[in-house]
Amino acid sequence: MILILSLFACGSADYSGGDATAGAEVYASTCESCHGADGMLGVEVNGVAAADLTFETNDLSDDGIADAILNGVGEMPAQALDDTQTADCIAYMRATFGS
Ligand code: HEC
Repeated sequence: MILILSLFACGSADYSGGDATAGAEVYASTCESCHGADGMLGVEVNGVAAADLTFETNDLSDDGIADAILNGVGEMPAQALDDTQTADCIAYMRATFGS
């Protein structure tokens, strides 16, 4: 029940309109070790390469990226960001890796 409620809480936030400049620091400190500065580093976690963010950033919605960050996906562990940090990180990713 707690899990369901927290998933619902995550899904209800708005992850658009973040600050890409602030998001650069979030990305560098939280994502870069696995995904790389260019989004394509692909460090393996339990044999699964970190996804290519130059592809995933265009393929996923803001909510989809937020879900991966906050809840984890496959072998990617959930990252401890708040909603503002998450929105900022997504804005940075769209500015940097988006087409
Ligand atoms: C410990 C390494 C690690 C860290 C840190 C990490 N990731 Fe990942 N990420 C992965 C791996 C591994 C996958 C592939 C998961 C799978 O397919 O099993 C992945 C997949 C993804 C995906 C694709 C999700 C999908 O639905 O296919 C996105 C988007 C993503 N990561 C974004 C991020 C962002 C943004 C951060 C920082 C807030 C981050 N990751 C931090 C390892 C990491």
